[in-house]
Amino acid sequence: MKTPVILTVAALGCVAGATDLVGHAAAHPDGRAAYAFEHGAYRKDLAGLPIGVFDSGIGGLTVLEALLSLDVFHNDTLQPGGDGRPDFADERFQYFGDQANMPYGNYSSAGRTGYLRELILKDAVFLLGRRWFDPGTKTFRHDKPPVKALVIACNTATAYGIEDIRAALKAWNLPVFVVGVVEAGARGVQAVHREGAVGVLATVGTCASGAYPKAIGQTLGLAGRAVPVVTQQGSANLAGVIEGDPSFQETVAERCRLDVRALVEAHRQSGVTAPLSTLVLGCTHFPLVQPDIDAVFQSLLREPGLAELIAPRMEYVNPAEWTARELFRELARAGLRGGTGSRQKDRFYLSIPNPLRSDLPLTPDGGLEKDFKYSRLPGELGREDTVNVPMTPERIPETTRKLIESRLPLVWGRLKSEARNSKSE
Ligand code: DGL
Repeated sequence: MKTPVILTVAALGCVAGATDLVGHAAAHPDGRAAYAFEHGAYRKDLAGLPIGVFDSGIGGLTVLEALLSLDVFHNDTLQPGGDGRPDFADERFQYFGDQANMPYGNYSSAGRTGYLRELILKDAVFLLGRRWFDPGTKTFRHDKPPVKALVIACNTATAYGIEDIRAALKAWNLPVFVVGVVEAGARGVQAVHREGAVGVLATVGTCASGAYPKAIGQTLGLAGRAVPVVTQQGSANLAGVIEGDPSFQETVAERCRLDVRALVEAHRQSGVTAPLSTLVLGCTHFPLVQPDIDAVFQSLLREPGLAELIAPRMEYVNPAEWTARELFRELARAGLRGGTGSRQKDRFYLSIPNPLRSDLPLTPDGGLEKDFKYSRLPGELGREDTVNVPMTPERIPETTRKLIESRLPLVWGRLKSEARNSKSE
C-alpha cells in the first residue's frame, strides 16, 4: 500500500519546474517506478553507504579524482594537515554521468532551463535510489545501494539545480546533504584572491545563471571582505574540444586562445581597470587544460593595451579541490564518515538512450538528436528517454577514455577494478 503523501506548497516552493518530480518521487516510496527511490532505505544507519557524485557526463570524473587524492586532513583527529592517508580512504563512491542528455551548458540558450532543472533532480533521484538498467537483459534492476551524500560535480548542474535538490531533500525529509562545486569554488576564491578582479571561465549556461558572481559576492561579503569585480566568459565548445569530440575541428590550444582572449576583451569592455588576477576554472573539464589557459594569459600580457588588464601572475581556482574539502567537513559534521570496512566497491553509471524505445530520434553514433534533446519540456515523468547503465571502459568514447587513463589515474584504477568485479559476479 502506498503511503499517502502530503507535501505543502511551502515545501515545494523553491522547486517550480521540478515540482512534479518531487511529488512523483514522494508518491512512489517503494522506489520501483522510474524517477523514484526507496524511502525506507533512509531509515537506517547511513554511514556505510557510498557517496554519490554526479555530472552531466564524464567531466565530473575530474572532481572524483580530486576526492580520491585529497589529503589535507588528519583522518583520525579531523584536524587540518595531511597524514599520508587519503582523506576518503574509508569511503566508496557511486558516480553518475548523464552523458545522453549533455551538454547541460547549452540548455539555457535553447530556452530549456526548466527541463534542465528536472534532469538535475532526476540525477539526484537516481543516486538516491536502487534502480538501474541492465543492458544485457534489457530489464531494470533494483539492487544498487542508495547514497548517503550528494556531490554535484557539474558547475552548470550546481548553478541551476542545487537549490532544487536542497528543497527536495527537505520535502522528502531525507537526512542526506548536498555539496556543489560553485559554492566550494567561491570558497576557493576567498582563500586565494588578494586584489584585482576575478575571471570565471565556464559554460554558457553557468555564466547565464550568474551563479558564480552571486556565490563569490556572498562568500567574500559574509567574510567581511571587499567583493571583487567578476568578469565571466562562457564557452560553448571548450569542454567538447577537451573531450576530443569529432564535431569540433579546433585544437585545445586554439580554443583556449579564443576563449581567454574573449574573457580579457569582456573585462576591457566592462570598463573595470583592476587587472584579472584570479581565474575560476568553472567547468569540470577546464582544470585539465590549465597550462594551455595560462600560456594564453602569458602571451596576451605581451600585447599592447592588454597588459594592464591581466596580473603578471594568475591564481587559479579549481572548484574540485575545494569541493573535496567541503565534503570532508560536511561528512564529519553529519557523523557520516565511513568506518574501516565500508571501503567496498565503487560504482559508475552513465545514461544512454533508452533501448526499449523505438521512437527516439538518434544520431548515426547512437546519441539523442540535438533538436530533440533541446526541445523537451519538464513534467513528462511517464516516459524514459534515457536509462542509466554501468559505465564500463568500453562504453566511454575512445578519446575520453584515453583522457581518463592518462590524466585521472586514480579514477581509471577504480573504474577498471569495478569493471573486473562486475564481470566476475
Ligand atoms: N559538466 C559541465 C560543467 O561543469 C560541462 C559540460 C556540459 O555542458 O554538460 O558545467
